[in-house]
Amino acid sequence: MVYKHIEVKPIAGACGAEVFGVDLAKPIKRAVFGEIYKAWLKHQVVFFRDQKITPEQQIKFAKKWGGIHIHPFVKGMAKYPEILEVKKTEKDTYTFGNRWHTDQMFSPTPAKATMLYAKETPSFGGDTQFANMYLAYEALSPGMKKMFKSIKTFNVGDGNKRRSTYSSRNDRYKGASAQPKKPPKGLKTNSEHPLVRTHPETKKKGLYIGVHTQNLVGFEREESEFLINMIREHCTKPEFITRFGWKKGSMAIWDNRCLQHYAISDYPGQRRRMHRITIKGDKPF
Ligand code: OGA
Ligand code: MN
Repeated sequence: MVYKHIEVKPIAGACGAEVFGVDLAKPIKRAVFGEIYKAWLKHQVVFFRDQKITPEQQIKFAKKWGGIHIHPFVKGMAKYPEILEVKKTEKDTYTFGNRWHTDQMFSPTPAKATMLYAKETPSFGGDTQFANMYLAYEALSPGMKKMFKSIKTFNVGDGNKRRSTYSSRNDRYKGASAQPKKPPKGLKTNSEHPLVRTHPETKKKGLYIGVHTQNLVGFEREESEFLINMIREHCTKPEFITRFGWKKGSMAIWDNRCLQHYAISDYPGQRRRMHRITIKGDKPF
């Protein structure tokens, strides 16, 4: 791919690329954004370094990717409901996102993209890993692909919803991230999705599974657990993974439709604080 306005450097064989030549604090021309978006579809997650932006500027940039999703049961920042502060302090033991997952998979229309901007980072550790679900699918044998084709997963996000309805001092969620809020009545936090998902823009197929996946629809419990464990292990082979080390001012935007991600919890006693915006997605097919 040839870029006229930006420079794009992959950071691993699996996925992920760093984008150079963009100042997110300034208005971004349509042609420049077009190239960023193309690089994003190709590399699945793009990174920008040394950005100095205000919440207003981050919100403005986020809107270029689609509608901003307001989280139903985690509170946004007081002045900026669009932004969730993902924060771990010196005392917190819980790390938000510390499992392989894709955002809001429990929802009938899970997030398209997630944008994370680093405000404070530990002196070491706190990286995020991303696993390429196109590669995981492509690496399957024709027999497995055929078998997986018609499988639906059942995905649940109940734990977070339940946590959000009370606040005890011992709640492992407390203080460790954005604060819970009461979800609207009747909020749907479980959904069936295809195990093999077609990306609506690239049209490529990828495996679609994450921590929210509870079982495979229509399978016996033992069968379902066996297959899910196998798929989880397969999805996170080192060859499918890239790892990003954050510094203050780093920005990442990832595609939840074709990646899983994992926040590494290896910096006890240190602080890490991120500004997170999620972009609304469509019903997976
Ligand atoms: C998220 C998430 C990972 C991280 O914000 O959805 O999983 O490294 N974060 O903070
Ligand atoms: Mn996440």
